[in-house]
Amino acid sequence: MNEFRGKTAVVTGGAGGIGRAMALTFADEGMNIVIADVEMDTAAKTVTEIEAKGVRCIAVETDVSSRASVANLADRAFAEMGGVHILCNNAGVVSWGRSDQLTDHDWDWVIGVDLLGVIYGVQAFAARMVEQDEECHIVSTASIAGLVAHQGIAPYNVAKFGVVALTETMRVDMADTKVSASVLCPGGVRTRIMESDRNRPDSMGGPGDFQERAGAMPPEPIDPMIVGRRVLDAIKADAPYIVTHKDQKAMVEGRFGPILEAFDRL
Ligand SMILES: NC(=O)c1ccc[n+]([C@@H]2O[C@H](COP(=O)([O-])OP(=O)(O)OC[C@H]3O[C@@H](n4cnc5c(N)ncnc54)[C@H](O)[C@@H]3O)[C@@H](O)[C@H]2O)c1
Repeated sequence: MNEFRGKTAVVTGGAGGIGRAMALTFADEGMNIVIADVEMDTAAKTVTEIEAKGVRCIAVETDVSSRASVANLADRAFAEMGGVHILCNNAGVVSWGRSDQLTDHDWDWVIGVDLLGVIYGVQAFAARMVEQDEECHIVSTASIAGLVAHQGIAPYNVAKFGVVALTETMRVDMADTKVSASVLCPGGVRTRIMESDRNRPDSMGGPGDFQERAGAMPPEPIDPMIVGRRVLDAIKADAPYIVTHKDQKAMVEGRFGPILEAFDRL
């Protein structure tokens, strides 16, 4: 996809962090933007920033862990913007705990937002994007944890591996359409991801004093706007994987080494 001006991008989790950065980057290319998020105060500020760039922007309150909420987002986006050309399935949360000690809520919340949220996005948008018969791109945010499992975040790893698998499958399944897909696998990015519990619903254990439960950001997190730029470049190049930290290549090689060795033992 190389034509952006006047087209529309929908970004879930677009109020802040990496989502906001992708939305600002697309707006700089002349795209109109739909911000989908649960944090409507933050979303309103981002809408104002984007409108200042001279493009249209609306915020649609959306909980990506609800299929009905994502279906409503798609209905609003297609009706009010006249089409959708980029979908960023980006909203995500993380919670911590040993695999043998996780609660039902730990699993349900993270799988609901990070994996089902992306699946619902694909269900609500992909077929309609294909029908449009215009160049389109779906970018789903996984993580480096979608390529190499990290300690203490099993539901996150499982969800993010799933997002990688879904993107790989879509690229094959939809190769004869004008809709392509990429998966974003960032390392540490300076956002509020470590305070994810601020958005944890009461039905999933609630936010509590989320700052007490906040995790530590990995060393040397990068600015989200760098990620926004990498995503735009990847869409132009139709690159399947988008990474952010060169030194994480060794980690990925380290994962595949033992898998390939298992074949050597046959
Ligand atoms: N920051 C990092 O270091 C990092 C690294 C790898 C992957 N990621 C991924 O990047 C994505 C964006 O996270 P971020 O780092 O910008 O964090 P963030 O917390 O700053 O932003 C996440 C956004 O998602 C929204 N959100 C949370 N739950 C939602 C829900 N149920 N429905 C709709 N919106 C919801 C939040 O309100 C927020 O605006 C996530 O998928 C995350 O897993 C982040």
